[in-house]
Amino acid sequence: MDGRLVAGEVKQQVVQHVQQLEKHGTEPLLATVQVGDDSASASYLKAKHKAAVEVGIRSESHHLPADTSQDKLEALLGQLNTNPKVNGILVQLPLPPGLDEEKVIERIIPYKDVDGLHPINAGKLAAGREELVACTPKGVIKLLNYYKVPVAGSRTVIINRSNLVGRPLANLLLNRDATVTVCHSKTPNLSGMTRTADILVSAVGKEIFQIRGDHVKPHSAVVDVGLTRVDGKLRGDVDFDKVNRVAGYITPVPGGVGPMTVACLLENTVLAASIQIGLKF
Ligand code: GUN
Repeated sequence: MDGRLVAGEVKQQVVQHVQQLEKHGTEPLLATVQVGDDSASASYLKAKHKAAVEVGIRSESHHLPADTSQDKLEALLGQLNTNPKVNGILVQLPLPPGLDEEKVIERIIPYKDVDGLHPINAGKLAAGREELVACTPKGVIKLLNYYKVPVAGSRTVIINRSNLVGRPLANLLLNRDATVTVCHSKTPNLSGMTRTADILVSAVGKEIFQIRGDHVKPHSAVVDVGLTRVDGKLRGDVDFDKVNRVAGYITPVPGGVGPMTVACLLENTVLAASIQIGLKF
């Protein structure tokens, strides 16, 4: 499953939505916040800003030092919340130690929360109402849809229970009538579980491969959300060459889920802007 290809299609749609918003007097603006100098965060943000430019979304970046106080960070979010020109706010995670991530996320006004992490947005999703939904899980669903992987009635196994990936993805899949199992570090007999999956999503991010050929069901769909740098090269959780011989569908790393996350952030930014002005696409 080619994430660059599908992300390109999502971005074309976003370009059209940007034009519609402009006709209604709104030039969508995404504000990003980075605290500290984590190199992975910096490279993700660079990709997000570059992609925003490509689709005609304006973006502004706020880069604060690692020793920024909770109050100062929350004060910036307060300003972005009330600035009518700002349609979307993204705080790149993880935050440096000492900052309360939950409090920071809750400080973002829900209708500008383009990461879909605010408890209001996560709660709506869990209740079956999808508005601003976390970007990576949304991207995974778009990939499965594009390649017509049957989701309804499928047995789906997710290895990750984070608020950013596992939980929202489980809810998206449940909303689409999959039978979902969420696995984590304390799950016994993980490979016994993964071998039952029609759709397997792995988001662990460790140097050793988590998913090898004998861990997957023949003809299944394997989605690799893991991301690690090994000897300077980006790699996922899945031993691609081996698993590719068994699975029916597989995402590469890079070029799989990563570009989808970025495309969905852009989509969420125009969606947030449309919610703010009461426009329906
Ligand atoms: N860190 C890793 N992925 C993400 C993401 O999708 N959003 C934010 N805000 N931080 C991240």
